[in-house]
Amino acid sequence: MKDKVLKRLNKLHQVDVDAIHAYKEAIDRIDNYRIREQLKDFKLEHERHLDDLERLIQSKGGEVPSRKRDVKGVLINGMTVLRSSVGDEQALKAMRQIGEFTNKHYFEAVKELNQDEECMRVIEKNFADEKRHFTFIKETLEFPHHLDSDDGPHEASPGM
Ligand SMILES: [Fe+2]
Repeated sequence: MKDKVLKRLNKLHQVDVDAIHAYKEAIDRIDNYRIREQLKDFKLEHERHLDDLERLIQSKGGEVPSRKRDVKGVLINGMTVLRSSVGDEQALKAMRQIGEFTNKHYFEAVKELNQDEECMRVIEKNFADEKRHFTFIKETLEFPHHLDSDDGPHEASPGM
């Protein structure tokens, strides 16, 4: 039982590590200021997921896993699309694919660990973040006016 829990938590940890790398790549590629800032916030949330998962893994008697990327399966595809993407829309489409992947993993973790209150406190919080990230990406793609305007900060005027 303990092994099963730790295995699942380690898997989620890896998913969050790989997602952070994907966010980094997307932030480097996306021109739109508002989208980029939003992705930066999401990336910070993934970093918080790692802190919480690491504390949980330790509390369950496991070793803190390394934060080394290990991109596999669906995520490889998403990362390839992301790296070859031209323009914000394509990069966001790759992030949507990566979001599907992270959500699927959190969904499976909820199914498997729903009897463990300590795990669920962390998993449900992270999963709620993931759902919110996914919704933002999906809605931005559906209503692409977000992609048209770049209302980021311009040169500060004197006196500001
Ligand atoms: Fe995310």
